[in-house]
Amino acid sequence: METLLTCQVLAMNSYRSPVLDPAAMPQVALASMNTTHREELMLVNQLGALLAQGMGGEADEPAISAKVNEWIEHTRDHFARENQLMQAHDFPPYPMHSGEHERVLQELEKLKQQWLDGKAVEPLAHFLFVDWLEWFGQHVNTMDRITAQFLKGFLIE
Ligand SMILES: [Fe+2]
Ligand SMILES: [Fe+2]
Repeated sequence: METLLTCQVLAMNSYRSPVLDPAAMPQVALASMNTTHREELMLVNQLGALLAQGMGGEADEPAISAKVNEWIEHTRDHFARENQLMQAHDFPPYPMHSGEHERVLQELEKLKQQWLDGKAVEPLAHFLFVDWLEWFGQHVNTMDRITAQFLKGFLIE
């Protein structure tokens, strides 16, 4: 019992908002991509705040469901725009980058279904504050960074 309590306290501490400070967000060479990433981060931080509040007391389930939907739809548009730009300018590693987008969208859809099935706050919080945070930094710093550098040669902003 004491161990369970310790785990809960540790989990609450590691889920402190924001998920990521916008000032610490990695930047790429295209302003439009940075704007989209910042929008996504705002949604993630809003969801993170709802989840952190839910871990400490009563979870606002309808607000969490609505924010999960908003986040996934934003991510779908975000990935579709990057895919479209890569295709339009014949970016050679397009299959790798778009394939990663597809994989992540499937993961988010699975996560959403798990949330809707059980309304369990902790797994969603763990995903957001640990898995998504790591993925986002890595994706923006690798695939998005290289894509933006390539596209910069074609696009005037
Ligand atoms: Fe991106
Ligand atoms: Fe991307």
